[in-house]
Amino acid sequence: MTERTFSIIKPDATERNLTGAINAVIEASGLRIVAQRRIRMSRAQAEQFYGVHKERPFFGELVDFMTSGPVVVQVLEGDNAVAAYRDVMGATNPDNAADGTIRKLFARNVGENSVHGSDSAENAAIEIAQFFSADDIVG
Ligand code: CMP
Repeated sequence: MTERTFSIIKPDATERNLTGAINAVIEASGLRIVAQRRIRMSRAQAEQFYGVHKERPFFGELVDFMTSGPVVVQVLEGDNAVAAYRDVMGATNPDNAADGTIRKLFARNVGENSVHGSDSAENAAIEIAQFFSADDIVG
């Protein structure tokens, strides 16, 4: 089933000029980048985006990091895109990520882990709507 997921290339990756290298891994997997924008996330945007993690001990650190530099927000489309992109990203902690995954290739640690991807189709729709309007997405 064709579906969409939401992706963020995080500040640790944009800082190292890895946008193209990460997009190459995404595209090699068969997922299509159907919307993409480079932005500086505001604190309000980051706090809203990561609202489910508000009570976690790393919430402040996470918001600080996500607002520390440019990010690239993306919509990816493909067969079972949510699960497919989670496979391409690898485990949250790069120490546990499989060979060839984005996080194994590029992530520094569990916080500076280069990419975000939605964890469900329901959250993908919510996350996409936070950053894109329907007209921005060209499938
Ligand atoms: P992400 O998929 O963007 O969603 C939540 C993020 O919290 C996750 O990726 C990690 O980057 C971050 N995170 C999870 N655990 C930790 C941790 N122990 N310390 C710092 N950041 C974390």
